[in-house]
Amino acid sequence: MQDDRFMFLRAFFRNPRQISAIAPSSQNLAEAMVSQIPLDARRVIELGAGTGVFTRAILDSGIDPCALDVIEMDEGFSALLRQRHQRLRVHRRRAEEIAGIGLAPADAMVSGLPLLSMSERSQGAILEGAFSLLVPSAPFIQFTYGPSVPLRARLLRELGLTSTRTTRIWRNWPPATVHVLRRSRLSVAPCRQAPASDDRVRVAR
Ligand SMILES: C[S@@+](CC[C@H](N)C(=O)[O-])C[C@H]1O[C@@H](n2cnc3c(N)ncnc32)[C@H](O)[C@@H]1O
Repeated sequence: MQDDRFMFLRAFFRNPRQISAIAPSSQNLAEAMVSQIPLDARRVIELGAGTGVFTRAILDSGIDPCALDVIEMDEGFSALLRQRHQRLRVHRRRAEEIAGIGLAPADAMVSGLPLLSMSERSQGAILEGAFSLLVPSAPFIQFTYGPSVPLRARLLRELGLTSTRTTRIWRNWPPATVHVLRRSRLSVAPCRQAPASDDRVRVAR
């Protein structure tokens, strides 16, 4: 939409580092992002929604507005999203605070955040918070304009995350690649050995 593009461009000139793009993502990129949400997902969290291109695609894919939480720190974008989707929960917060907002566990996270232009500390806070809310093996879906995942390798290792590069979307300006992060099962702490249930049975004499 023309107005959305204008609003986006204005936000970019106000704060280029926070917005990190001169136009909203294309419908093609939105569809590629949403196609990574598991078919049986019920609860989704979106980070960095901007004017809501991904938000609309998530809702169109069948996610109920009540089951979608959106985190967007820009005042104008948050107001726009609230006005367009009245049943949506839009949190005007920094994604770094995600673990403290009181959100319920989610089956997928869709991120439009400019992770590449963030400090390692911010990236760490966002990913740690995100994976504390995602159910096991749920995807964190992120796009980037570059060829590789927009995160420091050391951070991925420390958090036990694996990243899969999926589709390259040429019909987006600039062209973008969709990456899916998951917490590898090996990184989950081994459970403490409980005695087998038989060991606890007292034999009556
Ligand atoms: C590249 S734009 C993407 C917008 C939209 N998802 C799209 O693809 O058109 C990045 C968005 O993330 C938001 N953002 C940047 N840093 C953020 C942070 N730390 N917490 C929450 N939102 C943030 C910006 O305000 C902006 O709306």
